[in-house]
Amino acid sequence: MISVNFLNSRKYKEDQSIKGGLFILEIKKICVLGAGLMGHGIAQVSAQAGFEISLVDIEDRFVQRGLGKIKKWLDREVTKEKRTKEEADEIFSRIKGTTDLKKAAGDVDIVIEAATEDIQIKKKMFRDLSEICSERTIFASNTSTLSITEMAAESGRPEKFCGMHFFNPPQIMKLVEVIRAYETSDETVETVVKLAKKLGKTPITCIDSPAFIVNRIFFPFINEAFYLLQENVASAEDIDTALKLGLNHPMGPFELADYIGIDTLYKALESFYDEFKDPKYRPAPLLRKLYRAGCYGRKTGKGIYVYGK
Ligand SMILES: NC(=O)c1ccc[n+]([C@@H]2O[C@H](COP(=O)([O-])OP(=O)(O)OC[C@H]3O[C@@H](n4cnc5c(N)ncnc54)[C@H](O)[C@@H]3O)[C@@H](O)[C@H]2O)c1
Repeated sequence: MISVNFLNSRKYKEDQSIKGGLFILEIKKICVLGAGLMGHGIAQVSAQAGFEISLVDIEDRFVQRGLGKIKKWLDREVTKEKRTKEEADEIFSRIKGTTDLKKAAGDVDIVIEAATEDIQIKKKMFRDLSEICSERTIFASNTSTLSITEMAAESGRPEKFCGMHFFNPPQIMKLVEVIRAYETSDETVETVVKLAKKLGKTPITCIDSPAFIVNRIFFPFINEAFYLLQENVASAEDIDTALKLGLNHPMGPFELADYIGIDTLYKALESFYDEFKDPKYRPAPLLRKLYRAGCYGRKTGKGIYVYGK
């Protein structure tokens, strides 16, 4: 009988040296699901690292929109002389956009899922993929808040399933959180860590837990700023200035809340609260009020601040 490995990352690293070589899958072909904000960026960094990419979305207009953004980004780099036109064309030619999941995922080594943040959509995708993909194919989800373990259980290959959490925008942000679900194998973690490094990223590993590392700390941090504001401790502008100058943060908590979306922040805190049943995660009433009023920040033109058209 083998016990399930849910060790923390440090212990996991120690185990590698004890166990010696693992079977690490050589990744060549990657399928990225979802051509939105994150998916197109993940496809681009993967193509830049020399991989063959299939980029899938549910409608052709979404695929074209994602490809268009990649093209624009690469063109800008050519204009700024960061790379040659030939290099940019070669990178772009490695990405094949499609709406045909069967064709896109049939022979790939890894599927990186970056579709809409909805557990039902994601579970269905992984059920479909388990029928389509070869047994060797690893499944990775880029979810920010959903349970990796719950998705892995639907995939028919829980040992070949992990989280691969990129940050926005993937073309620039260095960090990738590699998340070990309840039954994820050492081989899968090691393969995905190696892949993240090949993409020029710095991977860290952790076990599956709500919002993993960065957002688990980041969302309650912003929530606390809302408590300060509703208690009239200081103005929004002064709280933002305090955090920018006192902690050297490039943006204040309210500027960030409006940037990422009051709705996203509110839902994330609600899900922490549901999961842990710990009052420290309850969304600040002011945050809830803004959410209910539809003041989601930059995307609606109004949040803590008001934005011009
Ligand atoms: N936006 C961020 O800052 C950020 C950061 C890290 C992780 N994430 C995570 O990345 C994922 C995607 O987020 P996003 O911001 O790119 O969302 P988005 O709305 O910009 O893109 C999602 C895309 O998925 C597509 N999609 C929906 N169902 C699909 C299906 N069955 N097959 C293929 N494509 C499908 C949608 O049409 C859309 O184009 C989410 O899980 C989110 O939590 C987001």
